[in-house]
Amino acid sequence: MPVRSKARRPLIAGNWKMNGLARPAGTEFRKILRHAALPRRLKSEIVICPPATLLAVLAAFWRRSGSKRRVALGGQDCHPKTHGAHTGDIAAEMLRDAGAAFVIVGHSERRADHGETNAVVRAKAEAAHRAGLAAIVCVGETLAERDSGRAIAVVEDQLAGSLPAGANARNTVIAYEPVWAIGTGRTPTPRDITQVHGVIRQNLAKSFADGTDFRILYGGSVKPANAAELLNLANVDGALVGGASLTAAEFWPIVAAKG
Ligand code: 13P
Repeated sequence: MPVRSKARRPLIAGNWKMNGLARPAGTEFRKILRHAALPRRLKSEIVICPPATLLAVLAAFWRRSGSKRRVALGGQDCHPKTHGAHTGDIAAEMLRDAGAAFVIVGHSERRADHGETNAVVRAKAEAAHRAGLAAIVCVGETLAERDSGRAIAVVEDQLAGSLPAGANARNTVIAYEPVWAIGTGRTPTPRDITQVHGVIRQNLAKSFADGTDFRILYGGSVKPANAAELLNLANVDGALVGGASLTAAEFWPIVAAKG
């Protein structure tokens, strides 16, 4: 039985990864703001996570827009500390200062490219909370882990290790992103997604008083063509979208698919 909660407003998040220069990215973001400003019912909350170099640029457009309550900005990573000698890193407080309300932590590309362990991801999620940001905590198995029947165990282990004790449904969002589905055009079957999201829900409900209220996003090759099917599965409370979030023309139909 899917656990249902009225508190779970759908969230459609765009992760721009290492893409975007100020002028063209500003144009796409303003198109998203204009879509969101239209006077119609919008079920979902929208978050755009651009590269850190663009946060302040996009925040200036956001402040002047009529979509402030419907659209938010997010970072893609943060350092656990508030400040200090950490060349190239960015503190959660700095993201907040630049206009972010969210930050993605533990994306598989960070786990793989930068050796981030669950403990590091947990420290980053704590930093996000300290700075007043909501953390989007990513989990997901590799193809080898799925093929060897370990997908559920891996996700449960990541979840247990990556979430700080202070996590709650307001300051934390979970994103299930199977590594093999990212940027490949492949997605798990609806049955597999429902199974993993159901397990995540059960684990959250066991560990947190408001575990049934956490939003659980699916990520990995979400496109306009598959969004309606994916977003309507049990315990799928939105999406974390990579490639298809780079243009308003592809991103907006995904938002619209949830209503
Ligand atoms: P794609 O949507 O490009 O597969 O990327 C998913 C992702 O990694 C979002 O964080």
